[in-house]
Amino acid sequence: MEIRTVSADATCPVLVAPVFAERTPGPGADEVFAELTWVDAHLEAVGFDGTRGSVAVVPTAGTFRHDTVLFVGLGDEADHETVRQAAASARRALPKVGRVGTTLHRVDLDGAVRACVEGFLLGGYAFDTYRSDPPERTHPDLELVGDVDGWEADVEIARVVAEAVMAARDLVNTPARDKGPADLADRMAAAAAEHGVTAEIWDEERLAAERMGGILGVGAGSHRPPRLAHLSYRPEGAVASLAFVGKGIVFDSGGLSLKPAKSMETMKTDMSGAAAVAAAVVAVARLGVPVAVDAYAALAENMPGGGATRPGDVLTARNGKTIEVLNTDAEGRLVLADALALAAEGEPDLIVDVATLTGACMVALGEHIGGLFASDDDVAARVGAAAVAAGERLWHLPLPRDYRPNIDSEVADMKNTGERWGGAINAALLLAEFTDGRPWAHLDIAGPARSSKEQHYLSKGGTGFGVRTLVELARSMAE
Ligand code: BES
Ligand code: MN
Ligand code: ZN
Repeated sequence: MEIRTVSADATCPVLVAPVFAERTPGPGADEVFAELTWVDAHLEAVGFDGTRGSVAVVPTAGTFRHDTVLFVGLGDEADHETVRQAAASARRALPKVGRVGTTLHRVDLDGAVRACVEGFLLGGYAFDTYRSDPPERTHPDLELVGDVDGWEADVEIARVVAEAVMAARDLVNTPARDKGPADLADRMAAAAAEHGVTAEIWDEERLAAERMGGILGVGAGSHRPPRLAHLSYRPEGAVASLAFVGKGIVFDSGGLSLKPAKSMETMKTDMSGAAAVAAAVVAVARLGVPVAVDAYAALAENMPGGGATRPGDVLTARNGKTIEVLNTDAEGRLVLADALALAAEGEPDLIVDVATLTGACMVALGEHIGGLFASDDDVAARVGAAAVAAGERLWHLPLPRDYRPNIDSEVADMKNTGERWGGAINAALLLAEFTDGRPWAHLDIAGPARSSKEQHYLSKGGTGFGVRTLVELARSMAE
């Protein structure tokens, strides 16, 4: 599928045109309303009033140069998210055609081209790998009807970002059986290699030699041993450096602290953080952002096999700190401890970890908002701004030092569970112990990493959450 601009008077089989509240026509729709005087009454009759998220398909039966107009409602005002969602909804509602025109990119909004293209691409995502008879899907070319300045650069960013989000979704949606730590590391390395990102994979022997006791401890109950995948993008003349660290639990059974059956159903998605960081570093490289990025994917399978870590065992992480494992289901912080310590050794300007870490964060913020923890308010502001610019929702949560006793252990430097209250904070406080006091942000994406329903640019399952924020963060560091 191609994305190009065509002149404002071009002919398309389908035109996607924006309409605001009370059927106020947006760019492109104004022309349709003027030429086809019956359209307004028709839209009213079918109950389309331009509400945000609404869609109406209107065949013009040869009376207009576009055979079909697909109106998308933007509500009172266009912002990036409305445009992204509208483009995605249009994509879902499209008849099967080879090319589609739109004027949605011409709404009065900086960055409309990018939001429009991102939504259109993501709205077309589906994961059909495991269907024997997948539904036929079209990948129509997108024509931006009517030029806008600088569209090429915006289209390129949108395309690279959307492809990264979809690559992350593919990994997340893959059944755990087909993504053991070694398989997943290989897939990440292969994708990286295609775009000049180097990869180093540590197997279980190397992990032991490198004192990665957290990752090894979590992986010990599985027949499929853990891996650390380190992907590195080092552009010449880099003006800043970033480390991305991702939780990559390919399946979280809870280990010996076994989860109930229902809670396990979605646990193939517990590697969403790792998928996000691996996809993001590739996108940053493809965009040629002059910022060095190291991505670390901490990959392990949390299973209750005979070699499994037991409640009461003590693990020694990369930086020498010891953790008493009281609940083997609090495994994410254990693999992140090693990977964060390793990332900190590279002395990057900023470390960001991404993890489906706690059910508690979902209880606090729901399914669509991630928790943002940071070593200081400047870091929180920087990462928060990147998330806003990217259109991902994060909420800043506190790291109160006086809560640290929650994770005091009777035998080790800390324990991996706290009291029931403030579960997301207790987890974040443990992570902080492994960042060597460096600038650091932690994204708890337990909620937004997966979607329980198909809506606008989200499909059921993995969402690729985090990719857009990380790419935007790298771009912002280049300024
Ligand atoms: N992977 C889970 C967190 C999770 C839960 C993500 C639901 C997405 C949806 C994590 O490893 C976990 O099990 N956390 C425990 C921690 C507890 C044992 C301290 C939790 O949140 O219950
Ligand atoms: Mn767990
Ligand atoms: Zn987990």
